[in-house]
Amino acid sequence: MFKKLFGKNTSKEQPFSDESVDLVKGEDIPTHIAIIMDGNGRWAKKRSMPRVAGHHEGMKTIRKITRCACDIGVKVLTLYAFSTENWKRPKSEVEFLMRLPEQFLTSFLPELMERNIKVEMIGVMDSLPDHTQSALKKAMEATKGNTGLILNFAMNYGGRAEIVMAMQQLMKDAEAGKLAIDELNEQHISQHLMTAHLPEPDLLIRTSGEVRISNFMLWQLAYTEFWFTDTHWPDFDETCLKEAISVYQNRNRRYGGLKGEGTN
Ligand code: FPP
Repeated sequence: MFKKLFGKNTSKEQPFSDESVDLVKGEDIPTHIAIIMDGNGRWAKKRSMPRVAGHHEGMKTIRKITRCACDIGVKVLTLYAFSTENWKRPKSEVEFLMRLPEQFLTSFLPELMERNIKVEMIGVMDSLPDHTQSALKKAMEATKGNTGLILNFAMNYGGRAEIVMAMQQLMKDAEAGKLAIDELNEQHISQHLMTAHLPEPDLLIRTSGEVRISNFMLWQLAYTEFWFTDTHWPDFDETCLKEAISVYQNRNRRYGGLKGEGTN
């Protein structure tokens, strides 16, 4: 029942064949896909490799999935690359992860430009190492005029911290007399999040068998469709992405209303 509700494609309940993957429809492509890229460590362990080898392979998957999302016509792809909780990992692993944006963005930048992809970031930039910041800033600056897919990295990001920051700003506005407390509404909060300029995710994918959202986009996921897979992130490929989109296209989004009365 639980698996069915959340569309976890691990059972025989929702078998997928190559044919059904071809059924990704041209219309109703999710505008915004958010992905919790999990399972790099387990992927590496299975191969008796160090955990960081999984992260390195995971970086290659990002390339593949970015290209595929771009080709399909997705407008925003948000990738959970480093959470505020990931600082608790061994120093060497954190250092490795902090080098990946540099590696990825340097080698992929020409293709990002060619594909008209814009790099953005959500999370707290200031506490990232200088080299990570400079790689992200350089890519964001170089691609800022691009009008295609937004490739949005969540780096040093936490959903609760983001809401706290929004509330602090709103309380300052209230203190300064710019906002009456009785007038506070959902739009005010949405507009003070790091995603203020983006549509909310239509589809959330989490790889590697965990069925939780781990402090990711807590406010923004209110009406998002969830899809879970046992596939580890380094093994996630174009077929997996299309499968997730195909499942999404067969969902009935009601936003708390009744069938056929969705808000968009
Ligand atoms: C979770 O897997 C993955 C991460 C915490 C890091 C994800 C990072 C990448 C995929 C590469 C980032 C690259 C760029 C360019 C930003 P895990 O290590 O928790 O896996 P496990 O649960 O199997 O241990």
